[in-house]
Amino acid sequence: MLNKKVKSIILAAGKGTRMKSDLPKVLHCIFNKPLLGYVLDAVNNTGSIDENFVIVGHEADKVEDYVVKNYENTKCVLQTPQLGTGDAVNKAAPLLNDFNGYVIVLCGDTPLISSQTINNFIEFHDNNHADLTVMSAIFENPKNYGRIIRDKNNKFIAIVEEKDANPQQKAVKEINAGIYCINWRTVRDSFNSLQNNNAQGEYYLTDIVKWAVEKNLNVQSYILENNEEIFGINSKLHLAEATKILNKKSLIRLMENGVQITDIDSTFISPETVIGADTIILPNVYITGKNTIGKNCKIGPFAHIRDGAKIGNNVRIGNFVEIKKSEIKDNTNVSHLSYIGDSELGSHVNIGAGTITANYNPISKVKSKTIIKDGANTGSNSVLVAPVTINEMASIGAGSVITKDVEAYSLAITRSPLKIFSQWVRKKIEQYSGGSK
Ligand code: UD1
Ligand code: MG
Repeated sequence: MLNKKVKSIILAAGKGTRMKSDLPKVLHCIFNKPLLGYVLDAVNNTGSIDENFVIVGHEADKVEDYVVKNYENTKCVLQTPQLGTGDAVNKAAPLLNDFNGYVIVLCGDTPLISSQTINNFIEFHDNNHADLTVMSAIFENPKNYGRIIRDKNNKFIAIVEEKDANPQQKAVKEINAGIYCINWRTVRDSFNSLQNNNAQGEYYLTDIVKWAVEKNLNVQSYILENNEEIFGINSKLHLAEATKILNKKSLIRLMENGVQITDIDSTFISPETVIGADTIILPNVYITGKNTIGKNCKIGPFAHIRDGAKIGNNVRIGNFVEIKKSEIKDNTNVSHLSYIGDSELGSHVNIGAGTITANYNPISKVKSKTIIKDGANTGSNSVLVAPVTINEMASIGAGSVITKDVEAYSLAITRSPLKIFSQWVRKKIEQYSGGSK
């Protein structure tokens, strides 16, 4: 049992030039959640880290805004200009002062790191009574990474960046993953002694290894087996690749819990979606955000579910249906071509094809709720203008626009009377064919 306090520093001040974007790199999303959010969630879900510092610089306001709105235990620290990873950590030093615990340093652009790995890493550091532990990995192609340098006794003595490395160092395949566990009290002085006389003219965080070795401190490397977890995002291609990796993990987890997924290549389901056993997911389904879906449902093909849907058991969400922030109770069907947003649907409700909940007023920018109670049904092509309630067992006629609440067991219908002009087409044909002679 760890009896040290642990805090984290997450580096997120860099520009991310290769993203070619106006948006800061760490705010790019996978399943609607920013990369930085994945790192913060992984850190917070360890249960062992109580406070985080995010180093912000490029577009600092936007990053800080996201952090403040979503993470209570996290402070942002400004780094301008960005003088290197060592300088970045040093910016948080005044806030840690004489903190007597461990500091985990991570990067805000590695969204695949898991809480389990972070905990194993802290435990390794603690069990070894280390002053500094660096996470490393073995890469067949180590290009662009800092290399882990060992002496002839295999003792870890330094990290050398690709741009500063000689050919012999470049041949090393053990790389620096960019995640560190620091015994703050014994290593904090290293940050004031960093120099920038290197190929990039930056204050390298990696130079704390040499400093600690010279001071005879206990320096360790923790070799990570699952390389995927330290995959860093530098481009839009990397973003797509990380999405695939995360999605595959999510689908495997669901299938292990009894969900049937027809086509894993065309199905995207966020890691925060919980789905019950024997639910069938048909091809081309896209589910983002945090959702729960019950047992024995049938979802898709071509369905889009997002932002906090709560779906019960035996529910059918059919083709070309979008569900947003809505609760749908057991045995209800939304089978075709519908939009259900900000709504509450009871059980045994039947939503006809093409039913739309008109939840958004683009002038007032207000979103309103639609409530459809147990056993009610809507005819095809109905528009329910929110806020509106359709009470138990009520029926909406096809093609209606509903702007008022409908009482239980009643029919509501808005429809101009049907007119039939007998033989109208025949007369027209005769008229035109006569005219052309
Ligand atoms: C860094 C490591 C390298 C390691 C690699 C792993 C150094 C010197 N090198 O290299 O050994 O293999 O990560 O991915 O640390 N950042 C700031 N402020 C700065 C500079 C960077 O906050 O002044 C942030 C960036 O936004 C990024 C992270 O630090 O999130 C890493 O910076 P980056 O420039 O990508 O370092 P690498 O060259 O990848
Ligand atoms: Mg990098």
